[in-house]
Amino acid sequence: MKKVKQAIVVGNWKMNPRTLAEAIDCAKKIARNIPKKSPKVILAVPAPFIKDIHKAVKLPIAMQRISTEEEGAYTGDVSAPQGMSAGATYTLIGHSEDRARGATHDIVSKQVETALTLKLPFILCVGESARDKDGTYLETVNEQLHSALKKLAPRHLSLLTIAYEPVWAIGKDATKVATSAECLEVVISIRRFLSDVFGAKKTEGVAILYGGSVSPETAKMFVKEGGVQGLLVGRESLKPKHFVHIINEVAQV
Ligand code: PGA
Repeated sequence: MKKVKQAIVVGNWKMNPRTLAEAIDCAKKIARNIPKKSPKVILAVPAPFIKDIHKAVKLPIAMQRISTEEEGAYTGDVSAPQGMSAGATYTLIGHSEDRARGATHDIVSKQVETALTLKLPFILCVGESARDKDGTYLETVNEQLHSALKKLAPRHLSLLTIAYEPVWAIGKDATKVATSAECLEVVISIRRFLSDVFGAKKTEGVAILYGGSVSPETAKMFVKEGGVQGLLVGRESLKPKHFVHIINEVAQV
C-alpha cells in the first residue's frame, strides 16, 4: 500500500447544531472556503442531516456511529446501510463519547465487522482516559486496537483510518491540551502495532489522525511534529472560519 497521499481533516459535529437549516448553513460556509490544494475534508454530521448536507455540499459525509446490525428491531439505532443510502461514505467507530455510554470492546469490534462487510471506510477512534507514569496508556490504546481490528484482513486496510484522541484532551472540560510529543509517542506505538500485525509496508498508507481540542493555533503543530496525517476536530468544526483556518494550516504542512 502506498504512503498516505492526502492529509485528512474530519469535522465531528457531535449532536450539533440544533437545526437542519443551521447545519446546511455551516456546511456551505465551510465548503465554499476550502482552499484549492486542500486536505480531504470529511464532515461527520448527525444522522438526520446526512441526506441534506450531502445534497448541499460536495464534501464526503461520515456517520458518527453505526449500529452493529444492518437492519432489524433496534429502536433508536441507525444502520450503516441506512446512512450509506442517505449519502454517507465514511463512519466514525468507537468515539470516546460512545465508549463512555456503553460501546464496549465487543460492540466496537462488531461495528468494525459491519463496516468491513459493507466496505464502508471507517475512522476508528482510540485513546486513553488518563495518563500515568508507567505508560499503561500505551497498553490501553493497544488493547483497543487489538480488539477492534481482530477481524481486519490485509485486504481491508484501505478502509481503515485511525484517530488518536486522548480522552483527557477532548471537549470543553479537557484537563489540558495535548502536546505534539504526547501525540507522537502514541502515534509511534500505533504504527508499531500496525506493522507488527500487518507489516510496515502494507500499513504505511493507513492515515493516523489526532483529535482533542484542536484549534487553529495547534493544528499545524500536530501535523508537523505529532506524526499524524490529519486531524479530527470537534468544537472548532462548527465555527466555519476556525475550521477553514485549521484546514488551511494542514494544507500548508
Ligand atoms: P474537541 O472534540 O475538538 O471538541 O475536543 C474532538 C472529538 O471529540 O472528536
